[in-house]
Amino acid sequence: MPNRTRPFAPSDVASSRMDPDAPSSPSGTDLPGRPAAARAERLTKVYGAGETRVTALDDVSVSFAAAEFSAIMGPSGSGKSTLMHVMAGLDSATSGEAWIGGTPLSTLKDKGLTALRRDSVGFIFQQFNLLPTLSAGENITLPLDIAGRKADPDWLAQVVDAVGLADRLGHRPSELSGGQQQRVACARALASRPAVVFADEPTGNLDSRAGAEVLRFLRRSVHELGQTVVMVTHDPVAASYADRVVFLADGHVVDDLRDPTAESVLDRIKALEVPLHDAEA
Ligand SMILES: Nc1ncnc2c1ncn2[C@@H]1O[C@H](COP(=O)(O)OP(=O)(O)OP(=O)(O)O)[C@@H](O)[C@H]1O
Ligand SMILES: [Mg+2]
Repeated sequence: MPNRTRPFAPSDVASSRMDPDAPSSPSGTDLPGRPAAARAERLTKVYGAGETRVTALDDVSVSFAAAEFSAIMGPSGSGKSTLMHVMAGLDSATSGEAWIGGTPLSTLKDKGLTALRRDSVGFIFQQFNLLPTLSAGENITLPLDIAGRKADPDWLAQVVDAVGLADRLGHRPSELSGGQQQRVACARALASRPAVVFADEPTGNLDSRAGAEVLRFLRRSVHELGQTVVMVTHDPVAASYADRVVFLADGHVVDDLRDPTAESVLDRIKALEVPLHDAEA
């Protein structure tokens, strides 16, 4: 690969997971030459019925390009987690469609969804969700071990190196700091080399220094390892590590910012939240 900072071209990652015959995005939100790793088209998610009916997502169309680091921001209850869960195949849509690569999720039955979540999607949670009795190394390969698959040793070595935990693999989670535990969880999400990693407030439980380590790793996994990461965060500084920020409010995409800085993110949040608070008052 001529470009040293990108040992894997986006197309390498995309082509290994995606259907080359898949139609291009009808929403036209894909960047030229960048296939979508994950895409939603007119996605609606309604919880409950009658009095308790909540429209968590209202006709959301959004596309996340391969080998890009995207952040999702928005007020509490705006639908960020719901969007990630539906796009990751952890929850079903009420209407609309979500794709991982070229695969429309609504066409998959239980077995197909399980395989897709196992092979093509990584998830990182706010609570690290590591198994306390296993070492860091065992936690990282656990999903592959359960699936009876062997990790690609070269890939795993790159991920472990990038996460900066090569000398901690034998430690149990209780012997690691919070930031180190979350980096183990990041490595676990990347171990299968998924088409897309969804991270729901991955730095929410970390102090700013440990959070910065995790963010640097996520950014490195995108810009050096060619992975695709979609991260929910409330923190403008965390969002500034991303290539792009999508803003949600009330189940809608209300803004989309490229090459964010903490200041530009804060400005957008202020612009978006004034009318929201007015509406609530
Ligand atoms: N399982 C559920 N059953 C009923 N309502 C739900 C369920 N999950 C989410 N909701 C509702 O859907 C809306 C969106 O929730 P969601 O968790 O996606 O918000 P969020 O943007 O992730 O918020 P936060 O920043 O607080 O995590 C909220 O009104 C929430 O109460
Ligand atoms: Mg949430």
